[in-house]
Amino acid sequence: MGAALFSMMFAGINAQSLKSPDGKFEMNFQLKQGVPYYNLKYNGNIVVEDSKLGLRIFKDKAIKFASEIAKPEDAKFDLNSGFTKISEKRDAKNETWQPVLGEKKNYINHYNELALTLNQASTERSIVVKFRLFNDGLGFRYEFPQQKNLNYFVIREEDSEIDLTSDMKAWWMVADYDSQEYKYQETKISEIPSKWVGAADANASQTLIKNAVQSPLMLKKEGKEPLYINIAEAAVLDYPASHLEVDAQNYKFKTHLTADRQGAKGYIQTPMVTPWRTIIVSPKAEEVMASKMLFNLNEPTKYTDTSYIHPTKYMGVWWEMIIGKSQWAYGQPESNVRIGETDFAKLTPNGKHAANNTKVKEYIDFAAENGFDGLLIEGWNIGWEDWFGNSKEFVFDFITPYPDFDIKMLNDYAHSKGIKLIMHHETSGSATNYERWADKAFQLMNKYGYDAVKTGYVGDIIPRGEHHYSQWTINHFYRIAEKANEYKIMINSHESVRPTGESRTYPNYISAEAARGTEYEAFGGNNPDHQTILPFTRWMGGSMDYTPGIFQTKLDYYFPGDTRFVKTTLAKQLALYVTMYMPLQMAADLPENYKKHMDAFQFIKDVAADWDDTKILSAEPGDYIVTARKAKGTENWFVGGITDENKRDYTVDFSFLNKGQKYEATIYEDGKDADYINNPQSYNIYKKEITSKSKINFKMVRSGGFAISIKPIK
Ligand code: NOJ
Ligand code: CA
Repeated sequence: MGAALFSMMFAGINAQSLKSPDGKFEMNFQLKQGVPYYNLKYNGNIVVEDSKLGLRIFKDKAIKFASEIAKPEDAKFDLNSGFTKISEKRDAKNETWQPVLGEKKNYINHYNELALTLNQASTERSIVVKFRLFNDGLGFRYEFPQQKNLNYFVIREEDSEIDLTSDMKAWWMVADYDSQEYKYQETKISEIPSKWVGAADANASQTLIKNAVQSPLMLKKEGKEPLYINIAEAAVLDYPASHLEVDAQNYKFKTHLTADRQGAKGYIQTPMVTPWRTIIVSPKAEEVMASKMLFNLNEPTKYTDTSYIHPTKYMGVWWEMIIGKSQWAYGQPESNVRIGETDFAKLTPNGKHAANNTKVKEYIDFAAENGFDGLLIEGWNIGWEDWFGNSKEFVFDFITPYPDFDIKMLNDYAHSKGIKLIMHHETSGSATNYERWADKAFQLMNKYGYDAVKTGYVGDIIPRGEHHYSQWTINHFYRIAEKANEYKIMINSHESVRPTGESRTYPNYISAEAARGTEYEAFGGNNPDHQTILPFTRWMGGSMDYTPGIFQTKLDYYFPGDTRFVKTTLAKQLALYVTMYMPLQMAADLPENYKKHMDAFQFIKDVAADWDDTKILSAEPGDYIVTARKAKGTENWFVGGITDENKRDYTVDFSFLNKGQKYEATIYEDGKDADYINNPQSYNIYKKEITSKSKINFKMVRSGGFAISIKPIK
């Protein structure tokens, strides 16, 4: 039967189904009284019950403020009901592509696709709902073809539902339009509303969404036949980031887009497509973590040159400011300063400015001696005296160094030792100011040979009323990435939106923070299970600048009586370099602390940052992760294992190694008497010859871990 005849037969019929390439998943779509629904089966069992699709739209395109805009007559403009007719188009793909930087050499993008055109007769408009079914789950999105009655519109809300069948366990954090620097909670879906209250710490910019959680959301159906589900989104471009509203009685989630100041959730000009909603499903947690679905749902890059993009291991003039030992500012903090008017050389120095010529040279020396590629320097530029919390637009110019930072001399010194300085552009959320200065700032970087920048967005966003995750600000982040590409610069952004696979399209956007990183160990602490959850959530769409490697975990070392401490053992800090994928990888502690443990520091010096292969050997969200990775272009492997607040035994089976080959393994493990609270610096290092038949048992202490570096014996 010809394809045309086949699709004609289905025109007007209200139910369609789609199977994954391996046949394990089945998606069924239908219109019930004109309302679109889909469901999802895995191995013949329903995992997502009939769930509604659709969007609500504002009547007017030039809308006023939130209170005026919720008019009941707008309902007839909604794109969620009254659909009468369907035509369908099927497609399939099985391709292998190579990420510029990645966890594996090849990513496989294999799916069957079904695109359904839905016509809304009353308004003479049509939309397309597109489904892609992979062997690891479902992605779907809305597409808005350009047409007479649908050229421009403003979204009130996207109402894509995901209706689950049971009260699953969830690893979640509170939803917020501006921050995801929160602790994870582990509860049943039904408990989310009661536990939501009080689950948020304070943040410099915060707009919480009651009874909603952040995406990616990790879920588990417990019991004899466990099933893991990960709900996320992909390719969030020119659209707000979404959160998940919780219907705790029905175990149902619904999208909630980030609003702008007016309450609008996306200004659309057709033709246009929304981000993908994703549902990854597997009986194995390891397979969920290994899924590359979010990247596959992004478009291949259009960049013509990616040769300047490279993995980077770096140190930073950074941790000493985070813990409060030094300062970013040169003058007295909270002085009233103005860029272009204040003579910063005449300020009374606060005496704690870290980015000074002498100190930076010391860091350069240590980073160079130990084979690092880069050194981040924060607080090098004028303006930190009143840097955030004042809704000030012109905070920094990103080009003028402080009087004690000789940019030319320091760059020459760094380059003479094989180190590139890493630029820092804190914007204080003033994105308009950053756009104004970006060309000049990147030109300065080109002039001095900086090829990577860490950007930052602490505080409320300017334009005032925009949020970190609203459409305007998301467009800002990618405008900056594209501009950086023009200057052949790599980007690592902090306080930005979480990535959802966009590094496939914007490969110079190599990292982002966008979650609670190591800095929070100094700002209230991360729970011992935090790092066992992040790879199932924040990491699903792209790498994080987690900044591990703290050896001096107790801060009373600097400030007697200080009770703050990093809640892991030293060996677990090493393991994080493998369990967390970071092509931009920091050794965050101070040189003086590494100097005391050069034997353990060797692992950080040796570990790779870019990989030909990755195997998640064993993982359970909230409990433990053991990962093995093969370094790019070599036969060297690295293994990392971490545990939560419980001590745990794990036996590594080295059968992933080449048969018949002998390897030398260097093992870094918790000392017998190690303890993340009482004795974090107790570790044990030894070497052992191994083959693919070897097995080694590790005893991880509470919040402990182990790291192994493996090299073939020639
Ligand atoms: C917050 C960032 O996460 C941190 O890394 C940075 O040092 C400060 N902002 C200052 O920009
Ligand atoms: Ca746990």
